[in-house]
Order: sequence, then structure tokens, then C-alpha cells
Amino acid sequence: MMEKVYIETYGCQMNFADSEVIAAILTKAGYGIGESVEDADFILINTCAIRDNAEQRVRHRVRELKAMQNRRHNLRVGVLGCMAERLQSRLMAEEENVSFVCGPDAYRRLPGMLAQVRKNEELRVKNEKLAEVELSTTETYADIEPVRLAGNGISAYISIMRGCQNYCAYCVVPYTRGRERSRDPETIVGEARSLFEQGYREVTLLGQNVNSYGLTPSPSPLGDGSAMRVDFPDLLELVAQIDPQMRVRFATSHPKDLSDKLLEVMAKYPNICRCIHLPVQSGSNRMLKLMNRKYTVEWYLDRVEAIRRAMPDCSITTDVIAGFSTETLEDHEATLDLFRKVHYDYAYMFKYSLREGTYAWKHLADDIPEEEKTRRLNEIIALQGEIALENNRKEVGKEYEVLVEGESHRSKEQLFGRNSQNKVLVFDKGDARPGTYRRVRVDSCTAATLIGTLVQ
Ligand code: SAH
Ligand code: SF4
Ligand code: F3S
Repeated sequence: MMEKVYIETYGCQMNFADSEVIAAILTKAGYGIGESVEDADFILINTCAIRDNAEQRVRHRVRELKAMQNRRHNLRVGVLGCMAERLQSRLMAEEENVSFVCGPDAYRRLPGMLAQVRKNEELRVKNEKLAEVELSTTETYADIEPVRLAGNGISAYISIMRGCQNYCAYCVVPYTRGRERSRDPETIVGEARSLFEQGYREVTLLGQNVNSYGLTPSPSPLGDGSAMRVDFPDLLELVAQIDPQMRVRFATSHPKDLSDKLLEVMAKYPNICRCIHLPVQSGSNRMLKLMNRKYTVEWYLDRVEAIRRAMPDCSITTDVIAGFSTETLEDHEATLDLFRKVHYDYAYMFKYSLREGTYAWKHLADDIPEEEKTRRLNEIIALQGEIALENNRKEVGKEYEVLVEGESHRSKEQLFGRNSQNKVLVFDKGDARPGTYRRVRVDSCTAATLIGTLVQ
């Protein structure tokens, strides 16, 4: 009988995209995809290692699954993704109910690993634990058409590159994901086209720093180590040309590489969404230097101005870290100041979390007390709340083209969708259907949502 896997995903959009690649690899190998943990012989936890609390959540979940394994003796748990890569077999020593770990570049080996787990059981080989954690300089899973998991059939992620070698001082990603490499453009465009033909109306192109797509020499499809001829703006243009009804988004843009060429391409195509995620991390030049971000606040503000010049209606969102090594009150104030200047539409805000193996772990003290990190973070959150509400109030009275995504979480009588700026609009159903574009007028708002009416 066919065995089933259930994949549980934590972390960033790239991890969610990876889970769909994993589902494709395992489906092809003859495994079924379970709908829930109850409906599976293997539970695969695709994990994140970006901050300590992300890892604690996974540890908690793994221990929770132990109870279920006591009831169902054939149920096996494997840990995949960034935490598997970071901790390797250490994780299996620490969590005895984990049977195998598999890092982000080894997913093609999963069918073999699952088979090996069963074989070990048959042979009654005890404590034979499996770890596949080798990183690759070439793996992009380019040829694998992902199996879309729990999607809405309207918007999908497409992974366009893997890894990162920017080595920001605080960040674990270069160690968990390996060297940066770009997927060949034909397979990306092919995947986007196929999604459009299946009825999808929005794709998000994913990479840790999409602006350096195609600039890292290996692996060229020519196999000669030369850089690809297609850079990120070129790729974006190719995907935008598939159909004007197909929206294109992308994440993440590293501010150091945000080019005028990218802005020109965006401005030229209305179906490239007016939204740029531009993580700043700090508003202090001293902190940015210490973080190895390779730009200054002045450079960043110049890029923000360039975005607004090219597309006055473009929304800008960010990531920020509170309480990085040696951050003074002055540095923190500089971050608040920057937030007041840029007026972000949305921000992901974090407390600094020391990660083993990073430059900061080796060389910089984690010297801001936890309570003080929390206090600074809360100050940023409060300010951003005010800014978001202020921004949203300016939207009242405007009309937007909205891609309808589904029923609103609050009421069955309402639908929700997003505008090009990635803002969520909620409105009474009327005759609107998910997967179509409709005009919606904004009547009121909260800091997080715009509330509107269909325009006939
Ligand atoms: N590649 C993206 C970021 C990916 S990680 C970029 O460079 O912009 C997502 C966010 O997590 C980062 O932008 C950063 O704000 C946050 N982050 C990363 N490492 C962190 C750490 N050690 N502690 C707290 N936040 C961290
Ligand atoms: Fe981490 Fe920096 Fe790479 Fe982003 S660019 S993933 S923050 S090392
Ligand atoms: Fe987390 Fe790995 Fe993404 S550490 S943020 S899942 S790249």
C-alpha cells in the first residue's frame, strides 16, 4: 500500500516553495501527500533557523509528535530545512524521536532516505540514523515542477535562486542555505506560463536577494561557468510578458543592489506589482556597518526616493532588527527617525537573536539586555502602527484593481483580495468571484486592512 507523507512548513516563503518541491519529488517516487498529521506515515517538518524562537517552536512541535508516535508505531518524523542543516545529526541526538534530517540541497535523496528508514526497521537495525546535509553549489531543482500544497489556485511562489553569500553579521542563512546560485531563466518562465494556463493570476519570484539574480557565475546553462545573460530586471520582464492578466511580485530586494534598471522595468509593466520589500535592518550607519549590510542610510534613502520617482504609488515594506550588538539609544533613535522618513506600508520587526556560527557570534557581544531589546522593539512596533494607520487613512476614497482571493476570515458575506501595493481589501461579496480582478473603492480602514465596496 502507498505510504503517505505530511509536510509541515515553518519559516520564509522560500521554505514554503521548497515544501512544494519536496512534495513533487516524493509524489514522483510513489508517496502520497497526506492532508493532516493523522493521515500520514511520515511527518516531514521543514524548519527555519533564523531566530532562536523559530527553532524553539520546532523543538516543541517535535516533542508534541512523540505522543502521537506512541500511539502509532509506524509513524516516523524527519526534520528538513535550515534547522536540519544547522544542527545536522546533533538534532537527532537531542530529539530521539527524529529518525532522519535532510538539508535544503539534499531533497532529491528523500525517497531513498524514507526507504532506508523502513529497511532499518525491517532489519531491526537500532539507532541507524540518517543525515543528508551536504550543501551544493549547483542544485536549483530547476527541472522539478512543484506540487502546489494548500494553495488557493490563484497565487503561487516560484523559487528563482537559492542560497546567499552576503554574510550579514547576524544571519545564519549563508550557513544553512549555502552559496548563491540562480535557476536558469527558461525553466522559471516555463513554470510561470504553466501556472497561468492552470488559472493562476499571480506569481511571486523568490530569492534571498533577487537583485543579484543571474550575476553569480555558476551554474550557467551553458555549463561554461560564465554569468547568465539574463539579470533580474530581464527575468522580471520575461515573466511580466506572459500575460497582462498575470501579476508578478518578487522578494527580497537587498537595498545595496536595487538598480534603476529594475525600477524602469517595473514602471513599464502595470502587471508588475507596485510593492518593494526593502529590508533596512537599522537606521544607524554604525549599525549597518557592523551588520555588514554594505549600504548607508543615505544610500538607502536615495533608493527610496528613486522608487517614489519611478512609481509614486509604489508601497515599500521592510525588515528591522532591534538591539543588535552595541546598539545605543542614539542608534535606536536613528531607526525610529528612518521609519518616520520612509513611512513604510508594512514592517517585519524583530529582536536580535544571536546565531551560532555567524560573524556576530564569533566577534560581537550580544550585549543589549533582553528587556531593553523588547522595549526598543515595542517602540518601533508602536510607531509603525501609527504610520500604517496614517498611510491607510490616505487610501480612503481611492479605487483599486483587486485580485479577489477568497472569503474574508471575519465574515462569510465578505471577500478579500489584494491591490497591486499588496494591501488587503475586504468588501461585500456581490457578484465577485475568487481569481478575478475587480475594482473596489476604499471606504474605511484599520492599520492592517482596507474596507471597501465593489465598483460595478
Ligand atoms: N535576505 C533577506 C532577509 C532574509 S531573513 C534580506 O537580506 O533582506 C528575514 C529577516 O530576518 C531579515 O531581514 C532580518 O530582519 C531578520 N533576521 C535575520 N537574522 C536575524 C537574527 N539573527 N536576529 C533577528 N532577526 C534576524
Ligand atoms: Fe541573511 Fe543578509 Fe543573506 Fe539576507 S542578505 S539572507 S540577511 S545574509
Ligand atoms: Fe528561515 Fe531558512 Fe528561510 S533560516 S527564514 S527558512 S532561509
